[in-house]
Amino acid sequence: MDLWGARFKKELNSEVNSFNSCISFDSVFYKEDIQGSIAHVTMLAKQNIIEENDAKVIKETLQNIQKDIETGKLVIDRNAEDIHMFIEGELTKRIGDIGKKLHTARSRNDQVTLDTRLYLRDQIDTLTKALKSLIKTFCYKAKENLETVMPGYTHMQRAQPITFAHHLMAYSEMFLRDLGRLEDTKKRMNVLPLGSCALATTTYPIDRYLVQELLEFDSVSQNSLDAVSDRDYIIELLSNISMIMMHLSRISEEIILWSSWEFKFIELDDAFSTGSSIMPQKKNPDITELIRGKTGRVYGDLMQLLTVMKGLPLAYNKDTQEDKEAVFDALETSFVCINTFVPMLETLKVNKQNMKEAASNGFINATDCADYLTKKGVPFRSSYKITGQLVGYCIDNHKTLETLSLEEYKKASTLFEADIYEAISFENCVKNRKIIGGPSPEIVQEHIKNVLQKIERKD
Ligand code: ARG
Repeated sequence: MDLWGARFKKELNSEVNSFNSCISFDSVFYKEDIQGSIAHVTMLAKQNIIEENDAKVIKETLQNIQKDIETGKLVIDRNAEDIHMFIEGELTKRIGDIGKKLHTARSRNDQVTLDTRLYLRDQIDTLTKALKSLIKTFCYKAKENLETVMPGYTHMQRAQPITFAHHLMAYSEMFLRDLGRLEDTKKRMNVLPLGSCALATTTYPIDRYLVQELLEFDSVSQNSLDAVSDRDYIIELLSNISMIMMHLSRISEEIILWSSWEFKFIELDDAFSTGSSIMPQKKNPDITELIRGKTGRVYGDLMQLLTVMKGLPLAYNKDTQEDKEAVFDALETSFVCINTFVPMLETLKVNKQNMKEAASNGFINATDCADYLTKKGVPFRSSYKITGQLVGYCIDNHKTLETLSLEEYKKASTLFEADIYEAISFENCVKNRKIIGGPSPEIVQEHIKNVLQKIERKD
């Protein structure tokens, strides 16, 4: 490479060159690289480190380079080592010696982490938008199902009655926390590394605060070795994305179960399911299976970078060039997953009747039966035992708590009256759980309202 030609007697071996190069994937930074260079050169002129006129020429040329890349007039050279070298090389090609002044008081080490921060903070905004539309979809679907009774499960065993709305809104909370984590990560990422140079800053009188302002960073990094060498902000983002995928994978797993013949709680729209090449009757939930599978892939991205970083001495090491593909892959994967999941959730049909039937089998109102006695003065452990015996009796006699006669109830306890049937009706079991966080339709309706407001406040 010409740039360090003075020190070397030979050209770089061509295989090593392509091994060493990352331009095939870091070319996405062209805009951020130019944006960073324009801020840098503005500051250099203001500090009288380079002449105002030279800065003007550099800025105009950089803008033209950007335009030419965007219109396809300038093709990014795949033989360049990286996007930074390519743009600087092109600048020098166009304006000669003036172009050579751009890299004063800067190194690719602070430049690359600057570009990455600029790029990722925008990507976080895009991911935030996608997550918000996902949360809204959960809210809208929940609104339609405030009274849709279904069994709630523990250990995959029918446990207590809830509503489909209550179940869906559990996910809105998870994704809201994911939103919060993205916000936090962006705050920690939004620190200007430029001015750290290769590792030890510079003797030029640069003004880092001016560059911070021009590039809208919240603060400037306080230790140059740290600024050029850590990639914790990328790991944090990868961990956020892994968590988003984990949540998406859990609901995907549920959708897979619910759409099976065994459950039949929901039916996927034809546009969001696939058939089998041999079994004509099949309707497969491929999208949700893929989301579940791709979650593993994103965890891999997180593990990759954690492992790349674990043994690196300070400061910059070329190993960190491996940070980019991992985070690009995780971002791209999460975008497709969310963007496919949203219309799939919007269009899925809810089989309310089957949910209710499932709720009716499995004695999921047994807690309410025990609570009925306890509210009449029986200590809970005794009510629990009486109800347990009633459930055993029902199983032996192929009955349910709803179909037992009052006489049968009275044999278990004389405190049972005709109002027991109301107390154990599934609708009432749900309605009477009016505690914050509970499934009662009025509580869930309020929850939906609050979540939608929270999201709008974040807009
Ligand atoms: N392409 C490099 C990376 O992604 C840029 C920094 C190179 N610095 C160096 N000293 N070789 O990390």
